Amino acid sequence: MERELSLEFVRVTEAAALASGRLMGRGDKEAADQAAVDAMRSVFDTVHINGTVVIGEGEKDEAPMLYVGEELGIANEPSVDVAVDPLEGTNLVAKGLPNALSVVAVAPKGCLLKAPDVFYMDKIAVGPTARGCIDLDAPVADNLKAVAKAMDREVRDLTAIILERPRHEKLIAEIREAGARVKLITDGDVSAAIATCIGTSGVDILFGIGGAPEGVIAAAALKILGGDMQCRLIPKSEGIGDDQGKMAVDDPYRLLQLEDLARGEDLFFAATGITDGDMLNGVRYSGQTAETHSLVMRGITRTIRNVYATHRLERKPRFVSEESICRH
Ligand code: FBP
Repeated sequence: MERELSLEFVRVTEAAALASGRLMGRGDKEAADQAAVDAMRSVFDTVHINGTVVIGEGEKDEAPMLYVGEELGIANEPSVDVAVDPLEGTNLVAKGLPNALSVVAVAPKGCLLKAPDVFYMDKIAVGPTARGCIDLDAPVADNLKAVAKAMDREVRDLTAIILERPRHEKLIAEIREAGARVKLITDGDVSAAIATCIGTSGVDILFGIGGAPEGVIAAAALKILGGDMQCRLIPKSEGIGDDQGKMAVDDPYRLLQLEDLARGEDLFFAATGITDGDMLNGVRYSGQTAETHSLVMRGITRTIRNVYATHRLERKPRFVSEESICRH
């Protein structure tokens, strides 16, 4: 994939963030999500790829846009897999809480795991210093010890991030018992996984079960950032039998390494902050302008770009409908 695509992917996530950020704190997660989907979809009509959505808003019959299998882009080449989460953290935007993002990960065709949203993933993720030290099947305390050793720290110096869910009660107790600090989050484990790779985030390791599509998107980012992640699929419901055939893995319950989730180096990851977060600022609006903060990364060179943009909203016809919604 040509490096120039970086900017095209940032435009896509910026558009979604600009549209849904307007709806921050309104308590309406569906409207915020819809705004992000509409804006992202419309900008994909300008992107020079021959893309297929492999992770998106669900199957065609339940999602009119950005559904799995939908074709995106206006070029014949490159043929790519596209994983989208126009609004990662719908509750976060609805409540005005931190770390809501718009994200896109892109890889050559066949390189991203097709993980339907009827699956969760059990996940463990760390940053570059602790790469190669994690084992999803090992006890929590052993993982924490190994990560502490790799980082030349004590376990009590580590901070583990985990979704606050009843299913995690035992896991949280084990982390506490092992002596690490704990950061509980209400939503947003893509941002949490990436935080393990960002030195200033104060987060060292992610544990716990979250969405499978989010796991693949996070894996693309961690691959580029040099971090590490292991996952195992878990069915959300009895629907597993129907979905097994769609998996791009032979045994749906085997331990998945980073390479199984996002294959190769030719990867792009772009994210724009919607609400303020650990790594990205949220959208700021001021009359006819708005400011966004995005991250765009390319796997081949591992270049990480922070993109600060000022948008003249009256010159962006695609956002006019969102603007008018917001004036009402
Ligand atoms: P949405 O953006 O779809 O609301 O997902 C937010 C999220 O917190 C993800 O970051 C996480 O992977 C997943 O939900 C966890 O699922 P659940 O809320 O069912 O525990």
